Amino acid sequence: MRTKLVAANWKMHKTLRDSKEFVGVLLSQIKNTPEIEVALAPPFTALATVGETLKGSRVRLAAQNMHFGGQGAYTGEISPAMLRDVACTYVILGHSERRQHFGEDDDLINRKLVAAFENQLIPILCVGESFQERHAQATEKALERQLRADLKTIAVEQASRLVIAYEPVWAIGTGETASPTDAEQGARFLRELVGLLYGSKIAESVRIQYGGSVKPENAEDLLSQLNIDGALVGGASLDPHQFAAIVRAAARAMKHA
Ligand code: PGA
Repeated sequence: MRTKLVAANWKMHKTLRDSKEFVGVLLSQIKNTPEIEVALAPPFTALATVGETLKGSRVRLAAQNMHFGGQGAYTGEISPAMLRDVACTYVILGHSERRQHFGEDDDLINRKLVAAFENQLIPILCVGESFQERHAQATEKALERQLRADLKTIAVEQASRLVIAYEPVWAIGTGETASPTDAEQGARFLRELVGLLYGSKIAESVRIQYGGSVKPENAEDLLSQLNIDGALVGGASLDPHQFAAIVRAAARAMKHA
């Protein structure tokens, strides 16, 4: 069975003090859910500090983005080796906010994926359709276009370690969640596509999260779906009580499986 992964994407939120307070509360509230993997993606400035406070716990560290290069004259950028240096396990790549506001295209995301694998970081690759695409019945087309292009040079051995986050763009930060059925449909489609690209064994092992207005109230239903192996949580991950409640909902969902 695939281990569920619940990850917090703090985006551009939290100072060092806020981050430390969050970790203290979170760790005390998720003690009884060892079956769920948990990851935190703080802003770059808090990575090292959060990493220190997580030492000895089961919670993993994730970055929200990175550059694909080794080192060099790239003002303002962070390399994969720097993320390894602060003990990151995961890196979120291709988030729709990066695509929308920072002009990241599938080519660039592909280069970042390659660099992540080369540096033993596990990418959480975000894909999702826009509002217009959903209303034009073009959800699957959009997902297929992104996934094929993002993974175009990724080999089978690498693909087996990939995490995919299905994040309908219209559901991110809007309070509008995809229904469990729609979320499951998107996740199932992505798994089938991974099967076409890499074979059924890889498709069965790849974890697919859902992201987009996940909250304590809707998490259990979403995470009980057959093809949904976790959640990527933005807004509700800023409060440790809410985020811990989502982790506990994931544990309950696992019991129904
Ligand atoms: P949200 O964000 O939970 O605030 O919708 C999810 C994400 O951007 O990953």
